[in-house]
Amino acid sequence: MRTVLVAILMVTACGNDGGGAAPDASDGPGASPDAALGEDLDMTAADFGCIQRGTHVRQFFVWNLRGHLDQALAVAGSATGGTYPVGTVIQLVPQEAMVKRAVGWNPTTNDWEFFALQVSGTTTTISARGVENVANAFGGNCFNCHAQAQPQWDLICEKTHGCAPLQISDQLITNLQNGDSRCP
Ligand code: HEC
Repeated sequence: MRTVLVAILMVTACGNDGGGAAPDASDGPGASPDAALGEDLDMTAADFGCIQRGTHVRQFFVWNLRGHLDQALAVAGSATGGTYPVGTVIQLVPQEAMVKRAVGWNPTTNDWEFFALQVSGTTTTISARGVENVANAFGGNCFNCHAQAQPQWDLICEKTHGCAPLQISDQLITNLQNGDSRCP
């Protein structure tokens, strides 16, 4: 009963918002959820888990929590790039993630939300999340690096998309992936 009431209140509140206006990207980063934006993925810490459960593509792991994994893998496999679908989660190491939000959620970051994570035992904690101003554990700004990727790669760096290379070796990355304490 209570759930129904809350739902009705929320519908009523949304009804005041723009009177059926088209999706409005000017709400900007961190804006409250806007039903007009459509399908979205608002991650919680518990939604993250063992990195190795994702689909391994070259160096990174990919998921899609909205049922669009085939589409995400098609983009990852394309020689000419593309735009990852809403619900895509990509991780290189357990401590960082990029999550594709609703179309129009934040055009500056191509609707990617950046996450800095802490992993301890089986627990994931979100230390930072956001768009242009999230830093990793070394103080490096996620967006500043990933924005160097040529536009067709949707802010995904890998080795050949135009980003300055990471200062850590592939072997260290593999060790971090294999050392994820959340994995069985
Ligand atoms: C110093 C620049 C730099 C910073 C800072 C940085 N990244 Fe990256 N990131 C890269 C590069 C370069 C790669 C590609 C590494 C490779 O494949 O060898 C990468 C890879 C990734 C990948 C795998 C997909 C891809 O783009 O290749 C994800 C996901 C990712 N980073 C997320 C983040 C998040 C989240 C943050 C912040 C918490 C962050 N990165 C901070 C440069 C950076």
